[in-house]
Amino acid sequence: MDKLVIKGGKRLSGDVTVSGSKNAALPIFISSLLAPGIHEIHNVPFLRDINTTIKVLETLGARVEGNGNIVKIDTTGINNHEATYELVKTMRASVLVMGPLLARLGKARVSLPGGCAIGARPINLHLKGLEAMGAEIHLTHGYVEAKARRLKGARINFDTSTVGGTEHLMLAAATAKGETILENAAREPEIMDLAEVLNKMGARIEGAGTDTIRISGVSDLHPFTHSVMPDRIEAGTFMVAAAITGGDIRIHNMRLDHLDALVFKLQDAGVEITNKDNVVRVRGSRKIKSVNIKTRPYPGFPTDMQAQMMALMTVADGASVISENIFENRFMHVSELIRFGADIITEGNTATVKGVKKLSGAPVMATDLRASASLILAGLAADNISEVSRIYHLDRGYEAIEKKLAGLGADIKRVKEG
Ligand code: EPU
Repeated sequence: MDKLVIKGGKRLSGDVTVSGSKNAALPIFISSLLAPGIHEIHNVPFLRDINTTIKVLETLGARVEGNGNIVKIDTTGINNHEATYELVKTMRASVLVMGPLLARLGKARVSLPGGCAIGARPINLHLKGLEAMGAEIHLTHGYVEAKARRLKGARINFDTSTVGGTEHLMLAAATAKGETILENAAREPEIMDLAEVLNKMGARIEGAGTDTIRISGVSDLHPFTHSVMPDRIEAGTFMVAAAITGGDIRIHNMRLDHLDALVFKLQDAGVEITNKDNVVRVRGSRKIKSVNIKTRPYPGFPTDMQAQMMALMTVADGASVISENIFENRFMHVSELIRFGADIITEGNTATVKGVKKLSGAPVMATDLRASASLILAGLAADNISEVSRIYHLDRGYEAIEKKLAGLGADIKRVKEG
């Protein structure tokens, strides 16, 4: 296992380029199941979750070839309708294959994912939607068994805004008979990227990015070529890295308009952000001001930036109240941040962070993907040496983050543990 060793205290400066979005790429890869033929995906990030998705597709009968950041998927030979527990437990987004398999083969057997470090994360809304579209669903031995001769359009109103649920039902509805209307749909940019791909394949989807999505089912789809949108959470993590080190960096290949809620908070905290010719410059100030944060579905403040922003608030002037409203257990980084000398008290879904003058380097352990990022950020700001272990979480979702940070002047290296 690898760990990261960070010598804190360096102000970051220079240029960094954001990779393709993990959370956009995963459903886009899965959409290839809907049409036989060769699909071509560009701007693919090198990540463990992408490798898992490729394994899932190969198990189902796809042939996958990669060349740099371009991946070609041949889905002509899809013949297996089962996604096993081994795969789904490694990456929950694998459950999204259920809708496309139902559409393509009329049946699917997919493991239930179970809980994860940040919360219970049920998929009841995915299943309820598929049932409304005419799928027969049974749960046996930890698996969801689903069948449908041809899915049919339905009007579905989500109880909770769900990114995966919205994507799943869009995938399922693209070739269903008739019109599907998704109400209270999630509005995340990744959903718009998926809708763009499906429309390139011949689907008829309107309203992605709003809370009402209309999908007129078509009988056939064809292969697509698409370049994945930039990763807004990776970009946001670099913005906070500049802020926490009092640095001055330029970020390339990012969509600032996807990060409005974060930008407002960083500006309130005293960080300067400018956008010129699609290059975003982020300058940290000598003193960070405290800001309060409430995570919300897009366009609200992203839960995937909560841990990183908490790291920033540990060194802010004053107290900050952070409430996590999406996942019930997404404060696992708190006890690790406290090891750096942070002053944080949690009660239920609220954390009160009182800024301290300086963090002090410490050995810490990553517990999930975004928690890992927050520990790296704290390590960059802390004095002396920090070691972040269990970084396999990090490799699921950040492409070469230590190389990118080192390119900005951070003293950070990956070493083998033990
Ligand atoms: N929920 C239900 N029932 C469902 C589906 C969701 O109760 O059937 C609840 C969840 O338990 C959660 C809330 O609804 O409390 C929102 O969950 P959502 O379905 O939106 O999350 P997701 O699709 O499982 C994606 C991202 C997450 C990101 C969330 C929220 C991917 C692969 N994952 O998860 O990304 O935090 O949306 O924005 O797109 C990450 O990248 O670190 C990450 C965890």
